[in-house]
Amino acid sequence: MKKINIGIIGFGNVGSGVIKILRERKSFLSEKLGLEIVVKKVCDKDIALKRSICVDKQILTKDARDVIDDPQIDIVVELIGGIHPAKEFITESLKKGKNIVTANKALLAEYGSELFALAADRGKNIYFEASVGAGIPIIKSLREGLVANRFNSIFGIVNGTSNFILSEMSENNCSFTDALGDARLKGFAEKDPTLDIDGLDSAHKLILLTYLAFGKLVALKDVFVEGISRVSLADVNYAKELGFEIKLLAIAKKVDDELEVRVHPTFVPKGHLLASVTGVFNAIYVSSDLAGDLLFYGPGAGQLSAASAVVADIADLTQDVNAGLFRPTFNITGDKSIKRLRKIEDFESKYYIRFIALDKPGVLANVSGILAKFGISIASVTQKERSRQEVVPIVMVVHNAKEKNLRSALMAIDALNAIKEKPVAIRIEEV
Ligand code: HSE
Repeated sequence: MKKINIGIIGFGNVGSGVIKILRERKSFLSEKLGLEIVVKKVCDKDIALKRSICVDKQILTKDARDVIDDPQIDIVVELIGGIHPAKEFITESLKKGKNIVTANKALLAEYGSELFALAADRGKNIYFEASVGAGIPIIKSLREGLVANRFNSIFGIVNGTSNFILSEMSENNCSFTDALGDARLKGFAEKDPTLDIDGLDSAHKLILLTYLAFGKLVALKDVFVEGISRVSLADVNYAKELGFEIKLLAIAKKVDDELEVRVHPTFVPKGHLLASVTGVFNAIYVSSDLAGDLLFYGPGAGQLSAASAVVADIADLTQDVNAGLFRPTFNITGDKSIKRLRKIEDFESKYYIRFIALDKPGVLANVSGILAKFGISIASVTQKERSRQEVVPIVMVVHNAKEKNLRSALMAIDALNAIKEKPVAIRIEEV
């Protein structure tokens, strides 16, 4: 049986999972693929560390060049994460004629144009299934299964940590801080959990989904990103009273001839499938013109789930290597009807707004006067219980408003003497 050699750079949690699967399912995979996948080298800066899986010392190395420079290795699997030296390792590997498998969402979101162009130039591929939704085959589905479709929108819950925190707040009345602590203990938060809660991890994943669905590799600076750190337990509970759940959504949406690309906490109607996605689970809701509305759902993190996706990419590439094929997956035809990215100021949405205000005559009149001045129409308003400090939360829902008008109105409202905390505004999405 033909053998295809791979080299793995990064013998951490996911790397160990990949080796485990390739070892334990060796004959299972060989029978399916008609060839044998051989792990020829495994590189990590720490090869002395005890791991859940043992690897023959002969194939372990601390030097990535042992993988990159090995002419018998056809596929390099990069699993170290981060930008440097992952970028250099991938670049060098491509130049040496290797195909790449990576789970590195941050790297591809930032340097995708450069790396994909280099890969295409060398007639090689970079596969990245594990970078979004771990084992959920969303990348392959967008790239291959839905190849004939045009897309209207993608709404994704793509960060398990944020979803876990919001679910804990909603289901168990947990505070934000306690829920984050729990997510860290459970091990699915990033090393730096601000990447999760500030929305950057979701933005990286959204950039990749947008690229596959709309053919635009959007720069991170052009993605509107707002995390969940300002979402309070009170907001979660008011949302429920109003018939919504708060979710951190990653959204790419065509509006006329423009594309909106944004990540932010969002009110999702309780009846929508995305509202029932709880805990560390991920879900990507894709609206396509031929296949209709589709939901991809599953665990968005975890060793074997991510490793499953990495092995799928390896398996795909072995078939290409075996056939001497190059499938130009990066010539993703851009949606030509999209002329530009929509500017943040032009986003339009319904909003939930919460003010903490002095409970005295005229306050509501002042607030609604300012909203009216900026053309914002109120759909409902509720004044919540009076507290001992004589300040009360006022919860409003407003009809569709332009982002720039809403921001100006909130600034003016915030400047009122009667307003005691920075107002909170959360978009309400008609998914
Ligand atoms: N920190 C990520 C999450 C892990 O919480 O979803 C998977 O990318």
